Formats: sequence, structure tokens, C-alpha cells
Amino acid sequence: MAFLSWHDRYRLGHAELDAQHLKLFELVNHFDDVIEMDMPAELGRIVDDLIAGATEHFRFEEAVMEQIGFPDRSGHCRMHEELIGQLRQTRTKMKAGGHVSAKSVAMFLVDWLTYHILREDTEFKAYLQG
Ligand SMILES: [Fe+2]
Ligand SMILES: [Fe+2]
Repeated sequence: MAFLSWHDRYRLGHAELDAQHLKLFELVNHFDDVIEMDMPAELGRIVDDLIAGATEHFRFEEAVMEQIGFPDRSGHCRMHEELIGQLRQTRTKMKAGGHVSAKSVAMFLVDWLTYHILREDTEFKAYLQG
């Protein structure tokens, strides 16, 4: 069973942004699947993929926000920077080993993803449609 389920309410109505969000969801689900398999190196690789995928997604989303004239673009960009910083910090802790459980990383990733997409990205949804 999937750890996180994708819901239609997460959709922004922009095909590429929605596909990118879905891909990030799948990576977080994959992380949870791999916990059961006891493959720590693979967990690290998934977080690396999340860092790469999120960096690319944020860059694209920032360009879209510019095109649609979203007024709080700069605040949203700062949030993206913070989110990447949190992921990098998590990756560093995982590399150092010992002090971080895979389950706590999984819970952090769920918050990281759902809070941002549900709460923050919906702020510009109206501008996409308008
Ligand atoms: Fe965003
Ligand atoms: Fe996003």
C-alpha cells in the first residue's frame, strides 16, 4: 500500500507542475517502501533524487510564477530555498549516520511535501486559472 496517496485536490491544473508534484510523491512513497528492505544506501540515493527533482521543480515553478505574475513570488522562492536547505541537512545527517532513523526521515518528507504543496502552492492556483 502506498504510504502517501495522491488526491485530486492536490492538483493545480497545470499539467507539468502536477506531473512534477506527483513524481516527488512517488519518490517519498518509494523511500517508505525501501525502509522495509533495509537498504540504507538506497535511502540515501532516494533523498539525492528528491534534492535533484525538487531543485528542478522549484526552478520551473518559479518561472511559471513569473509568467503568471504571482505577486508573492519572492516570498515563495525563499520558501523553496529553505525547503532545499532542509533536505540537504537531512541528507548530511543521514551520511553522518547514527542519529537519524529512516522512519523519522520518512515522516519529515511527508510533512515537507504535503505541507508545501497543499498549503503553499495552492496560493498561486487562482493565478494559473486566471
Ligand atoms: Fe512551490
Ligand atoms: Fe511545487
